[in-house]
Parts: sequence; C-alpha cells; structure tokens
Amino acid sequence: MLRNLLNQRRGYAYSRRVGVWNTFVEGDNLDVLRSFAGSETVDLIYIDPPYNTGNAFAYRDDHGGDWVEMMRPRLLAAREVLAETGAIFVSIDDNEQARLRLLMDQVFGPANFLAQIVVNLNAKGRQLGKGFATSHEYLLAYARDVRRCVLDASSPETVDPADFPLESPDGRRYRHLPLRNTNKKFNPVTARTLHFPVYGDPVSGRVATTPFDGAVEIEPVFGDGRPAVWRWSAPLIEQRPDDLVCRVIKGRDGERVDVFQKDWLHRDGPGGRRKKLRTIWLAEEVGSTDTAVAELKAIVGHVFESPKPTGLVRRLLQTMPADAVVLDFFAGSGTTGHAVALQNVADGGTRRCISVNSGEAVRPGSNADLAGYATVADITRARLRAVAETVGGGFEAQALAAFASQPPKETP
Ligand SMILES: C[S@@+](CC[C@H](N)C(=O)[O-])C[C@H]1O[C@@H](n2cnc3c(N)ncnc32)[C@H](O)[C@@H]1O
Repeated sequence: MLRNLLNQRRGYAYSRRVGVWNTFVEGDNLDVLRSFAGSETVDLIYIDPPYNTGNAFAYRDDHGGDWVEMMRPRLLAAREVLAETGAIFVSIDDNEQARLRLLMDQVFGPANFLAQIVVNLNAKGRQLGKGFATSHEYLLAYARDVRRCVLDASSPETVDPADFPLESPDGRRYRHLPLRNTNKKFNPVTARTLHFPVYGDPVSGRVATTPFDGAVEIEPVFGDGRPAVWRWSAPLIEQRPDDLVCRVIKGRDGERVDVFQKDWLHRDGPGGRRKKLRTIWLAEEVGSTDTAVAELKAIVGHVFESPKPTGLVRRLLQTMPADAVVLDFFAGSGTTGHAVALQNVADGGTRRCISVNSGEAVRPGSNADLAGYATVADITRARLRAVAETVGGGFEAQALAAFASQPPKETP
C-alpha cells in the first residue's frame, strides 16, 4: 500500500498504469535513482556507462581514476530499485572491466553473478592504433537474488531450424534424441524407477511399455554396454507413444535397436521453443556498432558515436517476462527504449522502459552539436519521440523535479 502510494507520487506507477512504453527522465542518474529507491518495481536494468576511454564522444568519457567512485553509489542505488526477482546487465570494455567486475561483486555479491558475456560488436576488429584488433566487449550479468531471479538464460531466436533435419508426413520438422539418459550421473542406482525394459518394433517404429507382436525388448544401456536409465517415466511413454520411435542404429559393437524421442522444432504451448544462450554473442546475431549507428541514423540522424544495437538489448529483454519494467539510467541515444518498443511489437509484450540521462551539454564540434542538439538528453528525447511515432507505444518525458513531485493520479 505504502509502496503503491510512493510509486504514484513519483509518477512512475502512473506511466505503468496507462501503459506508456517509454518514459524519459532528465537528470543526474544518482538523483533519479535515489528519488525512487525502495519502490522495488524494476525487473531488468540495462546500463552502458561511459567506458572511461577518454575518446571524444558527444558525452564526457573521461572520469580518470574516479570512475569506480562515480559508479559505486549509482550501482548501490540501482540495487535498491531492482525487484528481488530482477537482474542487471552492464556493458563494459577492457578499460574498466576488471574494476567493474570487482565492484559488481561488492554491490550485488559474487553469489549473484550470472555471466560475463563476450559481445562481438566490431566484427572486423579495431584497425586504429597498434596491437590487437579488438573485436569484442563485455556484458556483466548479476541477479538481485540468484535464488529468486526469474531470468531465463535462453532465447527463441537462437533456435536453428537446421538442427531439426527430419520432416513428418504433415510437414513438421523434428530431430531424434536418444530416449536413454546419456548423462552418466543418472543410472539404475541414482534413478532406479527409470530403469525398465520398453518394447519396440524397428520396422513400424512403434514403442510401448508392454510387449506386442513384432516387438523386441530394449533395455537402456550406455555406449559401453553398462546399464543406463530412460529420460521418460513409463506413464509418460504410455501417454506420448507418437513422440517416440524405435530404430536400428550402428553402435560401437555393431547394429542394435534403440528408442528415440521425436523432438519437434515447434512445440505446442506457451513460449514456444527456446535455446540456452551461450556466453559469446556474435555481431551477426545481435548487431554491431556499425548497425547501431545505421539504426540511429535512420530514426534521428548520426548524432551519437557509440550507440548499442537494439538487437543486443532485445536479446536481454527476451530473458525476462514480457511485462518487465526496464530501466536504463545511462540511456544515451535511447537504444533501450527503442528495443523495448520493437520487442513489444514483435511478441505482443507490455514491457515499459524508464530511460534516464543527464542534461550534459554535447561536445562542441560533435555530430550532435552540428545537428543542433544542445544536450545529450535532447538526443534521447528525440529518438524516443521518433520511436513512439514510428514503432508505437507512446512516450512521456519529464525532468527529475517533475518526475519526483508528480501528484498521485486517480486509478481508473
Ligand atoms: C555510453 S553512453 C550510453 C549509450 C547508449 N547505450 C546508447 O545505445 O546510445 C553513456 C551515457 O551516459 C550518460 N551519463 C553519464 N553520466 C551520467 C549521469 N551521472 N547521469 C545520467 N546520465 C549520465 C552520458 O550522457 C551518455 O549519454
């Protein structure tokens, strides 16, 4: 109750209630985060902070030795805003990766570390300067509480139809998976009830738990002949005989009869088929800095030097529920808000995104300056407004003062 009231006062729940996909708050993110600390209503945080490279971007990217001290209070405040079931992803490169990893361990706890993902954002590699042609950066992923985190580290988009080479008479694609559990940890001692004979006919393919004409008895065995167990219980085999097939295969010791599951490319039920995400993400899967610049150019112009591709953020969004509240408090050109709108359109989700950026003046002489933008916040707003017009979902922009003091709205 108190939390709801707090949320309403901050105007945050208001955006959620009326279903606006994108909200922008201009202000120093430390002030903004502290203004809604304690409300615990953000499910996913993605940030791409300044990497401290000293490069001449539209925004300041030189925090010297104070970078960790700049980040620490912001990450502490971010943790307060994150739901117990939530997760945070932070982009970083080699300049600050080692210090950030230690800082994240301090703030979120090493037990809540989920992954350090290598993201290949520059496929050709940096050609400037001496040394290696660096072609990747990182994403550090931490749970607020690993035991309660709802993050599903898989994606529907990495499922490759080529992995399902077989086709049923009605045109559905599938592959054969051994019904036998190939993990040696599971055996008749550790999983006693899954060791039983099944009956199969390699001519018709039929499988059953009781003998029938033409059937041979099949025991689950490992490749070396030692006893194994099935992955399915007897009742499940009886329930789904059409998803099983008996075949002759060539084993180590010649031909033998075995049972396989027909693993369908398109599964029935909610969510569809997903595949576990690996920890190396390629530019051809998630986009690159070049494709990100092109995306930005198409919607507002080439006004920011180092945007992230929406494909990268969309992959993060797909690991969390489709009604997640997302926060990006180093929003820059507004990629996260753009990705949220695109993903909502793609999968019918109702995600909402709060983007925060300071009103720092753009660097004189930068593309942003030449295009007539006074502040980075002006760029964020311009993109999110264009996203609302071209993709949908609406947009509301507030300055921190207005955001923090917005009066509660009546619930319809
Ligand atoms: C690397 S850029 C983010 C780029 C963004 N991911 C994109 O795709 O466009 C970092 C951003 O953080 C902003 N920023 C830096 N310090 C900030 C602070 N204290 N509060 C709010 N924004 C800040 C900068 O203005 C810059 O836009």
